[in-house]
Amino acid sequence: MSVAARIGLLEALPPASRSAVERLISVATQRGLAVHMVGGPVRDFLLGRAVRDADLIVEDRIPGAGLDLAREALPGARVVAHGRFGTVRIDLPEARVDLATVRSEHYPSPGALPIVAAGTLDDDLLRRDFAVNALAVPLTPRAREGRAAIIDLVKGQEDLAAKTLRILHPRSLHDDPTRALRAARLGARLGFSLSRGSRVALRDALRDGVFGRVSGDRLRRELEKLFDDAAHGTDPALALRMLDEWHVLAALEPGLRLHRSSVAPLRRLGRLLVSPPWPSPRLRRLAAGLAVWLAPLDAGLRQRTLQRAAVRGEVAVRIATFPRLRDVALRELGKARGRGAIDAGLGGLGDEELLALLAFAVPTPRRRILRYATEDRPRRLPVAGDDLVALGLSGPAIGKALARIRAEMLDGRLRGRDDALALARELGRRRATGAGRRVQRV
Ligand code: CTP
Repeated sequence: MSVAARIGLLEALPPASRSAVERLISVATQRGLAVHMVGGPVRDFLLGRAVRDADLIVEDRIPGAGLDLAREALPGARVVAHGRFGTVRIDLPEARVDLATVRSEHYPSPGALPIVAAGTLDDDLLRRDFAVNALAVPLTPRAREGRAAIIDLVKGQEDLAAKTLRILHPRSLHDDPTRALRAARLGARLGFSLSRGSRVALRDALRDGVFGRVSGDRLRRELEKLFDDAAHGTDPALALRMLDEWHVLAALEPGLRLHRSSVAPLRRLGRLLVSPPWPSPRLRRLAAGLAVWLAPLDAGLRQRTLQRAAVRGEVAVRIATFPRLRDVALRELGKARGRGAIDAGLGGLGDEELLALLAFAVPTPRRRILRYATEDRPRRLPVAGDDLVALGLSGPAIGKALARIRAEMLDGRLRGRDDALALARELGRRRATGAGRRVQRV
């Protein structure tokens, strides 16, 4: 019985990645390669948590070994290779396997991307962020030669038991300040805290201003992951609170913090993201998360934070203007009589704005928003602008008539196309006889 089978790690993988990993192990065994499972899956397995994706490393001096192995073992799979060291991502229909070749790293300057070189298994484990992420399980006979069932060079298993995140050397956060964001994310997810030494290292990193050197793109990617975690059940407010308490938020952007009033909405947003009422891909989750988090902060700070995190374009505008839009929408929702009026009040809001709005709404408006978004919003009108042109309407009267027809349809007063055309005819007639102003006000 193999060591991995003995400790049950492979059995803990989701079926799709398990069969891919078994294929990889079998080809690696034939080739005499040493393959290990490392990092997150080992940590999560030892904690008894669900293991999502597999993370493998091949012990080989040849940088492209992982790529060759993936191509031979999984000829039909989508394999994406990155960089000189042949880090490979294998995308399977329902799983992901990362396969890398053992490497060492050094950081030319704080916050810069590391320079990577060939290395040993020990180098690869010791270059990592926290001791709990530096555990490895040998999977092939070659990997097991003279090794323990779990390779633990830095007492990672003790940290797992003590629920501690411990960096591996005092300059770790100088090298890669995003590790503080990773610590908050993991801490919130696992209920772990930073070790005393790591807190000291964090204070030194803050003092030395390393957070100013994190690029906008890296910061945005970390924030994306933070709201991704929410989709797997972690309260995003917990991670943001840690970053706030550690003074990391203010170090990333002066004045940035977690305002008390966004804690409960963030928690509600997190619950919504676990089973979102409509498909919510990564960027939409980030946008909704930022909209909720930043809403109580002043407009200038919100704007600066979006720039700092390289959030640009229309999505940045939507996040920046969300608080005003939220106030108007919630007021309209309170006053609206009927589904047509709700549709008119919420029409034009994007999916991320609706998610953020749901996070702020109390139960009655929340039910109304959900009903609007899932039932009414997708409904199509039985007539189009061309039909109204054919009836003699023109200019802004067309848009107004369509809005009126939509409201009547959602309120159940208009059944099908014939009713819609009859109403359009009536609106056109009233307009022609000068009663248009009254119709427009209805
Ligand atoms: N890692 C690191 N420093 C970083 C990013 C990653 O040391 N800035 C290491 C960690 O050891 C981590 C591994 O690379 O375990 C893989 O990274 P990632 O997939 O992001 O981490 P996981 O721990 O697998 O996280 P998750 O559980 O969120 O997938």
